[in-house]
Amino acid sequence: MNEALKLFHKAFHRPPSHCVLAPGRIELLGNHTDYNDGLVMAMAVDRHILMAGSPRNDGKIELVSSAFAGREMFYADRIEKTPAAPWADYVKGVLLQLRLRGVHFTGFNAAIHGTLPLGAGMSSSAALEVATALLLRKLFPYALSETGLLAAPRRDARGELPDVGKAEKLAFARLCLTAESAFVGANVGMLDYLSSLFGKAGHVIQIDCQHFTVTHGPVSAKVSFVVCNSGVRHDLTDGAYNKLRNHCESAARTLRVPSLRSITAQMLELRKSQLAMRDYECARHVIDENRRVIAGERALRADDMEQLGQLLYESHASSRYILKNSCPELDLLVDLARARPECLGARLTGGGFGGATINLVRSDLVKPFIDAMKRGYEAATGHMIEPMVCRAVDGAW
Ligand code: GLA
Repeated sequence: MNEALKLFHKAFHRPPSHCVLAPGRIELLGNHTDYNDGLVMAMAVDRHILMAGSPRNDGKIELVSSAFAGREMFYADRIEKTPAAPWADYVKGVLLQLRLRGVHFTGFNAAIHGTLPLGAGMSSSAALEVATALLLRKLFPYALSETGLLAAPRRDARGELPDVGKAEKLAFARLCLTAESAFVGANVGMLDYLSSLFGKAGHVIQIDCQHFTVTHGPVSAKVSFVVCNSGVRHDLTDGAYNKLRNHCESAARTLRVPSLRSITAQMLELRKSQLAMRDYECARHVIDENRRVIAGERALRADDMEQLGQLLYESHASSRYILKNSCPELDLLVDLARARPECLGARLTGGGFGGATINLVRSDLVKPFIDAMKRGYEAATGHMIEPMVCRAVDGAW
């Protein structure tokens, strides 16, 4: 029995009627590009949020989580933040958006269990939002589209709903994005939601955030993806993330382009003097990241993992010196990785300012790499890390 089922049983004294799983993600290339209409290469990974639930009809919603003590209780028609339980905001934000779109629900019990490290830049909050939307679909079937609700899907003889199609996944992602910006307060892009929904086992996800097209590229068995969590918590709502976004948008405005996707590095250099320094730096990072995603896709197709690794190192250097969304602990992890012959490339993953690095490691040499990283980080900081190997998995279900 999975942990969410066990937790549900313990909290509500009966088995849940439904269970969903939403994976976290690692961002491989394309840092802070998503909200600039840019390109990203990511991967849904085998660390996830599980949510088990049962409907009720008294309008009450009760939530428990294995990561937090206590129980959050509220009513379907009165959804408000509780300062003592910020973890429930992700669920509430999605419920509010569903209600605004006309989805009717009469209350439910749910238990949440995650295997994603919190604050590590692996999208635990996005996974919780996606899981909430999917759990509600299972409990109170509805069909979401870009323009509103469609006829609700029907259960088959076994009580199962049809799989969520591509267009509906996109609508789910937009709904979760609105929940995060309107309720939680982080002005994020679509990357985390699309990665969780469009994951494919053994493949990376390539997203074009201008047209919202998603393609998949196979991952070579020659390399493994090792995540090293610095232990420095990053929080997308603390303001630093939104500030970077403001600089990018201000650069686009000054340059009179719809977004940074519409400008090349050459054009940017020609017009550099028009921009405030921070706006220029943020724009430069984003434009170069878009180029690195294109180069990364080419390297992946050619099975050139050395090239892909170099792009990861380049990307981190750009985060460190140009976008300035790294921190000493992440730089240390990348420097330690770079000194290891087992490693082909490393960079921070996600918003930055803490969280984790992603390391592209020769598959036959993962163990010595992990041992060396643990030793090196502890020697330099006195703190232990537990690097984890992540595999590409299918999207949320
Ligand atoms: C966070 C956000 C994403 C994206 C990345 C940076 O993970 O949630 O939307 O902007 O940072 O690339």
